[in-house]
Amino acid sequence: MEQLTQLMKDCRSYRRFNEKRQITEAELEELAGLARYAGSARNAQPLRFLLVTSAEYRDRLFPLLGWAGYLTDWKGPEPGERPTAYIVCLADRGITGDPAFDLGIASQNILLAATARGLGGCRIASFSRAKVQELFGLAENLDPILVIALGEPAEEVVIERSSDPSDIKYWRDGSGVHHVPKLGIEDLIGGRF
Ligand SMILES: Cc1cc2nc3c(=O)[nH]c(=O)nc-3n(C[C@H](O)[C@H](O)[C@H](O)COP(=O)(O)O)c2cc1C
Repeated sequence: MEQLTQLMKDCRSYRRFNEKRQITEAELEELAGLARYAGSARNAQPLRFLLVTSAEYRDRLFPLLGWAGYLTDWKGPEPGERPTAYIVCLADRGITGDPAFDLGIASQNILLAATARGLGGCRIASFSRAKVQELFGLAENLDPILVIALGEPAEEVVIERSSDPSDIKYWRDGSGVHHVPKLGIEDLIGGRF
């Protein structure tokens, strides 16, 4: 139990990586395969995944992604610190249902497993659906809804207690440490009955 708690705490959003540590296609497939163990409304399983490890497609996908909106003077990871793999999550609109919950569960399975393997990543929802669809030549029914950027983390991320519920913006200090304010449990519990 303690191990699982620690894994959840360590499973942060990382945006800078050691590019020397390349993630292989086999590693990526293993991670994506863990989405199979996620719950799915009506067990409809509307999610599909693109595995991106080639330098060509990593380079073409990277500029389409929006990094760390609150860090307004940071354009995203520099060469040498970029993700070494991506899982592009697609919703098959031909399958009835709302894939959002499934996506949350599946992506958390993937990120927890990555963390357990000394890797890490970041969910990116800030991108043009049309551009990603075009890049990969996707059929119309396949809607890219999330990109999971992955690599070996090369930054320190610390969770802090936020001072009040409006204090939610993450920030980076002068040493490059990324600080993430999280609400306290007393801010989250709406009642005790
Ligand atoms: C659905 C979702 C979409 C996100 N989209 C982005 C994004 O487009 N770009 C980005 O840099 N981070 C993105 N993030 C990461 C959040 O900024 C991050 O989860 C938040 O700052 C809290 O940090 P933590 O994940 O370490 O707890 C996203 C997270 C989630 C859950």
